[in-house]
Amino acid sequence: MRKKVILITGAAGEIGDALIHRLAAEQHNMVLTLDVRPLSGEQRRLATHIEGSILDKPLLDRLVSEYEIDTIYHLAALLSTRAEFTPQAAHQVNVEGTLGLLELAREQSQWRSRPVKFIFPSSVAAYGMPDMETKAECPRVKEWEWNYPTTMYGGNKLYCEFLGTYYSRNFMQLAEESPVKLDFRAVRFPGLISAFTLPSGGTTDYGPEMLHAAAQGKPYDCFVEPDRVLPFMAMPDAVDALLDLAAAPLEDLNHVVYNVTSFSLSAAQIREQVLQAFPDAQIGFKPDHKRQCIVDTWPMDMDDSAAREEWGWVPKYDLKRCFEEYLVPNIKERYQ
Ligand code: SER
Repeated sequence: MRKKVILITGAAGEIGDALIHRLAAEQHNMVLTLDVRPLSGEQRRLATHIEGSILDKPLLDRLVSEYEIDTIYHLAALLSTRAEFTPQAAHQVNVEGTLGLLELAREQSQWRSRPVKFIFPSSVAAYGMPDMETKAECPRVKEWEWNYPTTMYGGNKLYCEFLGTYYSRNFMQLAEESPVKLDFRAVRFPGLISAFTLPSGGTTDYGPEMLHAAAQGKPYDCFVEPDRVLPFMAMPDAVDALLDLAAAPLEDLNHVVYNVTSFSLSAAQIREQVLQAFPDAQIGFKPDHKRQCIVDTWPMDMDDSAAREEWGWVPKYDLKRCFEEYLVPNIKERYQ
C-alpha cells in the first residue's frame, strides 16, 4: 500500500518553513517535502524530506510509485529579482517544473479516480502596470485586470495560473475519454514578511530585510525610493490563505485564482514602523534602478473581495497587529 501524503515542493523556502509546521505538527498530516536544499532542523522532524529537483522526472516517478499524493502545495520557484539574472533557469524551474507537477497530479487523479488538489502560490508579479500614472489611477486591481507582467517571474506565474486552469477545467477537450480533472487553486500573494525567515531573490525583500537588519543592529539601505507603495502580508496569514483555500468546498469556488492581501504601505512607512520598534535602527535609501523598475510595475493594492466572499478569506494581521503582535516580539526574541 502506498502511503497517502501531502507533497510540498520548495519546502525549504520561506512559505514551506511555516506550512510544514501547520500541516504536520498542528494538523497531523503525513507530509512529504521536496527541495534542492535540506530542511531546517525543526522541520526535518516533521516531514519525510527528499532532496532533489522538481525537474528530475525519474525522481517524480519514484515518488508516485511510493506515495499516494493527495494534495500538492507547489511552492518551488525562483523569485523575481533572481529570475531576471537567470531567465532561462527561472523558466525551467517556474514553468517546466510546474508543468511536470501538473502532469504528476493529473496521472494521480486518474489513477485514483479522484482529483488531486493542487495549491499554487502566484504573485502580485502577475500584474504589470504600464506607468506610474496608471498605477496611481488604479490602485486596487482585480484578478483579471492589468495582467501584463514585465518580469520573467511574473510571466511564469501568470502562465502557470493558466496551465493549472487548463489542466483542471479543459484538459484534453478533444480526447475520447474524459479524464478525471485535477483540482487546481491559486492565490496571488503580495510581499510576504516573516519573523523567522528571510526571503532571497525577491523584489519585495526590502520590507523584511529592513526589519531583520534593524533587529540585528545592522545598517540597511532600502533598494527602492521611500514613496514606493506595495501590498504586504504577514507569513502566518499567507499560510492560512493556502490552507483555507485548500479546505474550501469546490462548489463554493467560482474562480481559480484569488488575490489575497492585508495592508499596503510605502517603503518610508515600513521604515517608520521599524523605527518605532528599533529606534536606533540605521535605515537609508539607495534605490537600485532595475529593482525599482520592477516595483513600479506592480500595483499598490490588490482587490481580494472574491476570496473574502467565496471562501471567507480575512487576514488576521492588519498593519498594527502584524508589527506589534507578530513581527516585533518574535524578531526581538529571535535575535536576542
Ligand atoms: N515576493 C515575490 C518577489 O518579490 C513576489 O511574489 O519576487
